[in-house]
Amino acid sequence: MKTLLHIDASARKTDNPVPAYNSISKSIAATFIETWRTFNNEDKIIYRDVGDNPPDFISQDWIAAVFTPDNAKTDNQKALLSLSDTLISEVEQADIIVMSSSMYNYGMPATLKAWFDQVIRIHKTFSFDLARGDFPLEPIMSGKILVLITSSGEFGFGIGGIREKMNHLGPHIQTLSHYLGVETFHEINAEYQEFNDDRHRDSVTNAHKAAEGLALKLANF
Ligand SMILES: Cc1cc2nc3c(=O)[nH]c(=O)nc-3n(C[C@H](O)[C@H](O)[C@H](O)COP(=O)(O)O)c2cc1C
Repeated sequence: MKTLLHIDASARKTDNPVPAYNSISKSIAATFIETWRTFNNEDKIIYRDVGDNPPDFISQDWIAAVFTPDNAKTDNQKALLSLSDTLISEVEQADIIVMSSSMYNYGMPATLKAWFDQVIRIHKTFSFDLARGDFPLEPIMSGKILVLITSSGEFGFGIGGIREKMNHLGPHIQTLSHYLGVETFHEINAEYQEFNDDRHRDSVTNAHKAAEGLALKLANF
């Protein structure tokens, strides 16, 4: 039995009275999850919608609490870190993480960045040792798979695309995923939402097919 952590990040929902307002990235992630469930119905799925329920931003007190040894943490500091503890425990449990994200201002939504800031934490998800030279950080977890599903209004963000250099979404999340213990990274992108033309419709259709195909492939990993 596997544990799947499903994180959605768009500010949009998927049950709007006007379907055109629905989140594309969330609906493609839903295709992945439905396909996964068909083959792994007994698996545990943990769900977070950080677009709908954003994690707190970290603060000076939060950082101080992180750097206070566990045996010296005050009750207030423990309370301040409790959301981070919960979110980290969800990542620890996960064999596979399915993360969907809109592109906002060429990067991830602030709510998803807030999630990463709560989760990537010294002594919990990474260790730090200057004896390692120029790369003192090392992930504590390992062996996880991340499936990133994105939607953007413009297009050409992939390798060799006309906006490759403007893409701070997938590359940023792939860099951060190392500190979640991710060793296998998959990405599915829907593009052209702002053009609302056949290229958009094809892109969304292909992304749903890719999500279904990848879920089938990974269902028995
Ligand atoms: C605040 C905001 C910022 C956006 N910034 C970009 C952007 O930088 N580049 C882009 O291609 N599309 C951008 N878009 C368009 C979204 O990426 C697009 O609507 C996408 O489908 C949103 O994901 P969703 O359908 O899952 O909600 C932006 C949309 C919003 C609301």
